[in-house]
Amino acid sequence: MSYISEVSCSDNDWLDINADLFAVGIFKDKSFTPLAKKIDSNNDGIFSKAVGIGDVKGEAGNVHTFYVSGKRVLLVGLGKKEKFDSNETRMIAATISRTAIRKKVNRFALECFSDEKSNCQAMGEGIILGSYQFLDYKTKDKDNFSLKSAIVMGGNESIISTGVSIGTAICFARDLANHPGNKTTPTRLAEAAREIAEEGEMKLSVFDREEFTSMGMGGLAGVAQGSDEPPKFIVLEYMNGGEAKPKILVGKGLTFDAGGISIKPAASMDEMKFDMCGAATVLGIFKAIASLKPKINAVCIVPSTENLLGGKAYKPGDILKAYNGKTIEVLNTDAEGRLILADGLSYASKHYDPEYILDFATLTGAVLIALGHIATGIMGTNEELIEMVKKSSKNVNEKVWEFPLWPEFCKQVQSEIADVKNIGAARQAGTIAGGAFLKEFVGENIPWVHFDIAGTAWGGKANSMNPKGSATGWGIRLVLDMFDV
Ligand code: BES
Ligand code: ZN
Ligand code: ZN
Repeated sequence: MSYISEVSCSDNDWLDINADLFAVGIFKDKSFTPLAKKIDSNNDGIFSKAVGIGDVKGEAGNVHTFYVSGKRVLLVGLGKKEKFDSNETRMIAATISRTAIRKKVNRFALECFSDEKSNCQAMGEGIILGSYQFLDYKTKDKDNFSLKSAIVMGGNESIISTGVSIGTAICFARDLANHPGNKTTPTRLAEAAREIAEEGEMKLSVFDREEFTSMGMGGLAGVAQGSDEPPKFIVLEYMNGGEAKPKILVGKGLTFDAGGISIKPAASMDEMKFDMCGAATVLGIFKAIASLKPKINAVCIVPSTENLLGGKAYKPGDILKAYNGKTIEVLNTDAEGRLILADGLSYASKHYDPEYILDFATLTGAVLIALGHIATGIMGTNEELIEMVKKSSKNVNEKVWEFPLWPEFCKQVQSEIADVKNIGAARQAGTIAGGAFLKEFVGENIPWVHFDIAGTAWGGKANSMNPKGSATGWGIRLVLDMFDV
């Protein structure tokens, strides 16, 4: 774990603040933020002169270092004033954290560039996200510099601290996902859920192999057959919203996906440690809920196992019975995520009266072909809910793209000998086939949206908010925006 654990606010004069680096801003029209202006005029136009020379252009994210009154000051480009919104704020705050890491400063201070609520929250998020590094397996000290604390000069302390909680929850999710399969096991996910339950006074139930098998969860039991690592079915309940219907989140917790008997190619198989990113997302959301304690009812469900090969492994042709009683013909053991989610969605539908269900899963390689690492593929059964998702997606800048769940696609997962089969038409609309399959396990009339995060959960271009090779924690900000926390 490495990210800033302490963010405070201060209204003191900057010269009275104890920090190793101070960040102030300049817009593209060359206007300064209030603190930059003050420092400039008290120091013989030190910034204005650099602007005059042509070095400082105010481009979003550009940074220049100055030395003023014996202190290190970073003049940060904020881009176009009219475009300066929460997304720019988050990115720029993260850039400041990354620069502080590069300069190995222990404590830095940054000006709150705007009083706007969403910008203050994004500033808190950006400071934490930009400070994130995954260093747990680097044993040499020189690789191990991590930021300790940040001070925001000005701004609304309670809103900034909401952003800090959200950023921390995202880092928590990234850590779960970045650890390899021999560390993040189903048992570890259950432990993480226990930590969250304790912090947020939630009810935790964890069913082990014997329990969920006898309960009738044939999807999870089938996939887990080939693994000796104990599988878990995890349920977290947060009930702080009176009589309101619960919002239910289901996350794919495949802690390593070798493909099973329909084995995957060796190249990049290591990345299948990330096949539990759906679980990381929903646990991350609950981590934020534990800290922010919103007045809502919410349930988090994580079916979790490995998908391996061996003498006990399930096989192509096997027929499994899911928790809602439907039978599934397994035609490819690598399409396992939908099998464990079938039990998760059935459990959510049977035991609750949900306002809606959202599921998160690294479900198909096909979504990566369609949308790359840029957007998550979504599908659902309820227009209004899909619109809510799209609205929050825009608010937090986590892109989604809707695929159609037309009846023609739904027919493609019907089986000749069982109720459904776990693949659609060969090499066609693979992501939609995944959604069409899952739909079979969502109760009638329950609004539901499926998020295929196989392209967005990791693997995108590194940027100030997320380092190279790290899981992203995609979707946590989107759902917390929907929940209005
Ligand atoms: N976990 C994979 C999906 C995946 C693949 C995520 C590559 C990220 C990168 C999933 O379990 C899977 O293997 N799906 C199959 C489904 C197919 C057999 C119908 C796939 O996408 O190939
Ligand atoms: Zn698979
Ligand atoms: Zn998988």
